[in-house]
Amino acid sequence: MKKTLFVTGGAGFIGSALIRLLIKQTDYIVVNIDKLTYAGNLESLKAFSHNERYHFEQVDICDKHKLTNLFEQYKPIGVLHLAAESHVDRSIVGSEDFIQTNIIGTYTLLEVVRDYYTKLKSILDTNTLESFKFVHVSTDEVFGSLGDSGYFNEKTSYDPRSPYSASKASSDLLVKAWFHTYGLPIVITNCTNNYGPYHFPEKLIPLVINNALQLKELPVYGKGNNIRDWLYVDDHARGLLLAYELGIAGESYCIGGHNERTNLEVVNIICDILDELKPREDNKSYHELITYVKDRAGHDYRYAMDPTKIENNLGWKPQETFVTGIQKTIKWYLDNQDWVAHVQSGEYLKWVDTNYTSRILDRFI
Ligand code: NAD
Ligand code: TYD
Repeated sequence: MKKTLFVTGGAGFIGSALIRLLIKQTDYIVVNIDKLTYAGNLESLKAFSHNERYHFEQVDICDKHKLTNLFEQYKPIGVLHLAAESHVDRSIVGSEDFIQTNIIGTYTLLEVVRDYYTKLKSILDTNTLESFKFVHVSTDEVFGSLGDSGYFNEKTSYDPRSPYSASKASSDLLVKAWFHTYGLPIVITNCTNNYGPYHFPEKLIPLVINNALQLKELPVYGKGNNIRDWLYVDDHARGLLLAYELGIAGESYCIGGHNERTNLEVVNIICDILDELKPREDNKSYHELITYVKDRAGHDYRYAMDPTKIENNLGWKPQETFVTGIQKTIKWYLDNQDWVAHVQSGEYLKWVDTNYTSRILDRFI
């Protein structure tokens, strides 16, 4: 019998990559639970809208009643929890949605899952029960900011600094508490910055690609010397599936591919590739669009991950380096300008409350 997995936040960037992986490469039935905020885009999954193994439920993870009904209806054997507010700059402008979704939403989901898991215990045999897991998808940003040397790993203390990372750290701690106190079989993953296709163009890499193609300024915060460790989104998705299938309950796994770059390096690489793949009609270089702007408040200097544990214990290895992944990503954006145009025109929001989202979009795109 086919087993059902819940993916929360499946209409987002990483969630949609995970659902593409699950539908194409596994037998699971997948239920995508997503509120469809400004960041939720069902167009990213339109290839599966009629797939019999894919179901979409527009539900807010803060809605305990609706969540409870979904668990009763679909009886999942696992939950991969990605729903979140995810953009640091937005969290600086206003943190309320981050507290609500990332903390209260995760708490609500944990309580519903706890109740469901208690019921499962009375009806499932031990072997089947053992495959139940709650995978909480988190970030390296909970560990704070590194200097020029060193790496985050599973033993690094939490030291979040932005409203976003503080809300994610809070949710990680709740998840850990539900393991220790109630025996809920959870696994936590902490991943580095992702990039790849279907990335909402408010984050650095898609923003720079799309601004360049529209000959707009490429905003670099401060001096551009902050460092991020970049991972191609499909490599993250494979790590999440391994964490569900092989991860040990109560443990956390750090995911990253040793691809550290300064922000300025990232922007320069994108400009180099675009100069080659899509030269400007005025024969100028995209580099001329680079503009240094005011730094982000509390800007973390460096993130970098040591992924030894997930490599050794779960057999995870990234398939892309930054050099290969960024080429693929830029080609995807060049070939999928419709997807970007629909985000920018707001057409993708036809599923969402337009008053709410257009207000936010005005400010950021
Ligand atoms: P995203 O912003 O692209 O997508 C988030 C999704 O969650 C959207 O589809 C949105 O509609 C949905 N959502 C938001 N609030 C909700 C609510 N209350 N109820 C139900 N659905 C809701 O985010 P992403 O970049 O795909 O990140 C996914 C997860 O991975 C997040 O938990 C994030 O913290 C984590 N993460 C992201 C990165 C990264 O580089 N993007 C790195 C490490 C970890
Ligand atoms: P971002 O993609 O927002 O991810 P995060 O803040 O979660 O790391 O930003 C990546 C880096 O790029 C971060 O150091 C901030 C910087 N940045 C810019 O320089 N310009 C931009 O326009 C954006 C959005 C980010």
